Amino acid sequence: MIEIQRLYKSFDKLDVLKGVDLNINDGEILSIIGKSGVGKSVLIKSIINLIEPDSGKIIIDNTDVTGFSEKQFNKIIRPKFSYVFQNGALWDSLTVGGNIDLALQIERRLDETERKRRIKESLRLVELANIENVYPDELSGGMLKRASIARAIATQPKYLLYDEPTTGLDPVLANVINNLIKKLNDELGITSVIITHDISGARKISDRIAMLSEGKIILTCPADELQNQDNEIFNNFISGKVILNEH
Ligand SMILES: Nc1ncnc2c1ncn2[C@@H]1O[C@H](COP(=O)(O)OP(=O)(O)OP(=O)(O)O)[C@@H](O)[C@H]1O
Ligand SMILES: [Mg+2]
Repeated sequence: MIEIQRLYKSFDKLDVLKGVDLNINDGEILSIIGKSGVGKSVLIKSIINLIEPDSGKIIIDNTDVTGFSEKQFNKIIRPKFSYVFQNGALWDSLTVGGNIDLALQIERRLDETERKRRIKESLRLVELANIENVYPDELSGGMLKRASIARAIATQPKYLLYDEPTTGLDPVLANVINNLIKKLNDELGITSVIITHDISGARKISDRIAMLSEGKIILTCPADELQNQDNEIFNNFISGKVILNEH
């Protein structure tokens, strides 16, 4: 379980996170929605120590990691996590298999036989078997996303953070990725946090939805109760209404 308590983060004079409270339960899919620039990426980067919060607490599996050094965090906590970046980002100079192997070498001490097995297994799980010797620039956008997800699951994380996994994909491919996220959650039990603008996809695959607005989580609700909320900012956002005077 991840417990985020009163988290604050500013950049110079820009206050981005202003007291975020959020729990992420083991085994669930939680989607975080909110306007562009509101701080969604900053929030999940804070969870894995890519950004250092100014104050507040992050408790992971009952361990308060807030005061951890980078070394402590990387040793004890980082192996529990994988992160699918907003831009997917595989190294063009390496094959798909090479990209996954690099992640395996950074994260853990595994021998070559085990790394090869994990590369094959993770590509099989995203239905991209036999492309390990292919270079990223030979893949379509949807295949690239799946390859970056394969890289993320190869290290067998407990928690998988996806930053906009369906942005830029057509509706059919977005559906493929959403189904894949659900399948990985079901079959591997991976606790998944998804940042997304894809409300209908989030509604379909998530257990809960949380909305970040003006530096705070203003609402969390079960995904199947999205339509019944008594919160104007939330309701306007999910129905696509634009409020011009809201900052
Ligand atoms: N390392 C940084 N240094 C300075 N400002 C930053 C940094 N990272 C993020 N910001 C700022 O924090 C704000 C929130 O950024 P963030 O990337 O979290 O938004 P977001 O909600 O993920 O938006 P989007 O939906 O467009 O991805 C933005 O104004 C951004 O410019
Ligand atoms: Mg972002």
